[in-house]
Amino acid sequence: MTITIIGSGYVGTTFAAILSNCGYKVYALDINPKIIESLKNKKAHFFEVGLNDFVKKGIESGNLIPTTSYKDSIANSDVVFSCVGTPDNPDGSSNLTYVFDSALEAAKYAKEGLIYVQKSTVPVGTGKRVLEKVKKANPNLLIHYISNPEFLREGSAVFDTFLTDRVVVGGEHKQSIKTVLDIHKKVSEYATKIDFSLYEEFANVFSDKIQNIDEKIKDIKYLSTSLESAELIKVTANAFLALKISFANSVAKLAQKFDADVNEVMDGVGSDARIGRSFLYAGLGWGGGCFPKDVSGLISLFEQNNIQNPIMDAAVSENHSMAAYLIGLMENELGSLKNKKIAILGLAFKSGTSDCRRSPSINLANELIKKGAVVSAFDPKANSEAMEYIDSEVKVKDSAEDLLKNIDSVVIATEWPEFKEYDWKNLLGEISTKTIFDARNILDKQKLQKIGYKYVGIGK
Ligand code: UGA
Repeated sequence: MTITIIGSGYVGTTFAAILSNCGYKVYALDINPKIIESLKNKKAHFFEVGLNDFVKKGIESGNLIPTTSYKDSIANSDVVFSCVGTPDNPDGSSNLTYVFDSALEAAKYAKEGLIYVQKSTVPVGTGKRVLEKVKKANPNLLIHYISNPEFLREGSAVFDTFLTDRVVVGGEHKQSIKTVLDIHKKVSEYATKIDFSLYEEFANVFSDKIQNIDEKIKDIKYLSTSLESAELIKVTANAFLALKISFANSVAKLAQKFDADVNEVMDGVGSDARIGRSFLYAGLGWGGGCFPKDVSGLISLFEQNNIQNPIMDAAVSENHSMAAYLIGLMENELGSLKNKKIAILGLAFKSGTSDCRRSPSINLANELIKKGAVVSAFDPKANSEAMEYIDSEVKVKDSAEDLLKNIDSVVIATEWPEFKEYDWKNLLGEISTKTIFDARNILDKQKLQKIGYKYVGIGK
C-alpha cells in the first residue's frame, strides 16, 4: 500500500516517519521546499523527542520519500492523510484554506476510489464541505472521505503514535474505515517488535512507558463513528482538557490564599477515577499550536449556531489571567519590577518541544518587559524558535549558566525536567532577592526553602 501524508508538521512528519518504518511506502508531501530539504537530509525541521531516528531509518530504507510534488505522490497513492495546518482567523474561527486547497490539488491526481483521510483538526461539518468542493471540481471522481482525528501531543508525538488511548475513524464507507483502522493497528503492532535500545533518545525519555508495551496496546480502543461525530470528538477533547487546566489554575489561586498546595489538592481530586489526575497541573496556562486555536474555533462554532457556551469563554479568560496573576505574585515579593533583572527558564510552550507558538512563557517575558523589567531567558531547545515571538528587548542566552548570573530573581516558565537538576544551592549567591518563582510547580519547595530560597509556586 502506498500512502501520501500531506503536510509535514508535527503530526504529518511523525506519522509519515513511523508508517515508513512499518513497511509502507510513504510520500511526505509539503509545499515548503525547506521542510522537504530537511527531511531529505534525514531531519525534521523541528525538535521532537526521538523522531529523527525514525526519519533517518525511513529515508535510508527508501520507504520515506519527501516531495513537493502532488502529481508524483498522489497519483501513486491508495490512501492520503491530510495533516495540514488549520490556523485561526482573526475572529477566532478556523481557517480552512489549507484543508480545502490541499484536497482540491490532491483530487486532480487522485486514483479512482482513493481513501482521503482528514487528520487535521477541523470544525464539525468540514468533511461534507471538502467533499462538495472536490465533487464540484471533479464531477466524475469517486473518493472515500474519512475523518481520523489525531490525538498525539508534541513532546511525546512518537510515543503517542505507537500507543494512544483510542483511534477514532469516522465516515460512511465501511471498507475505507477498516483500512484506516488496520493501518493504525499495524503501527501499534510494529511498536511491539522494535528494539528500543537502538533508539536511544526516545528510550531515554520513554523507558518507563514502553515497558510491557505489547500488553498496553491491547487496551487501545478502536472507535468507528459517523464522519461528523469523529470531527466533533477531536475539538471537544481538546476543549475539555483546556477546561480542566483552567479549572486547576483557578483552584490554585484559592489554594494559594489559604496556604494549601494545589498539587496535593489535585492529587486528591484526581484520584477519583471519574475525574482523573491528568491535565490538572496548575501553572502559567495552556498554549501551543492546538488548544488556543481549537478552543477559539469551538467557541465560534457555538456562536455561529446560536448556542450558549459561556464555560469555554470562562476557560479562555482564566487562561489569559495567569501571566498577570504571576506578575502580581512577583510584585508582592519584589515590589516594582522596573529595572529588576528577571531570568526566565523555558520559552517553549511546554517541555519536550521547540514549539513556541502561543507560549505562555514568551507571553510572560513580553509582559515583564512592559513592566520595565530587564528580562533574559534561556530554553534548552527553543531559543531560536522563540525569536519569532519574543520582544526584542528580552536577552536570549545560550546557556542556563549564562542566564543565572547576577540576577534579581528567576522564573521557571516551562517544565523542562533538567531545571530540577540544577545546582540551586550554588546558584543562590547569584540571585539578589533569593526568590524563585516556580510557575510550573516542578521544584521541591521544602528543599529550596531549606537552602535559603523564598519559593513561590502557582497555588503552593
Ligand atoms: C494537545 C492535545 O493534548 C493532543 O491530544 C492533541 O492531539 C493536540 O493538542 C492537537 O490537537 O494536535 P499539545 O498541544 O501537544 O497536545 O500539548 P498538551 O500536552 O496537551 O499541552 C497543552 C498546553 O497545556 C501546554 O501549554 C501545557 O503546558 C499545558 N498544560 C497541560 C498545563 O498547563 N497543565 C496540564 O496539566 C497539562
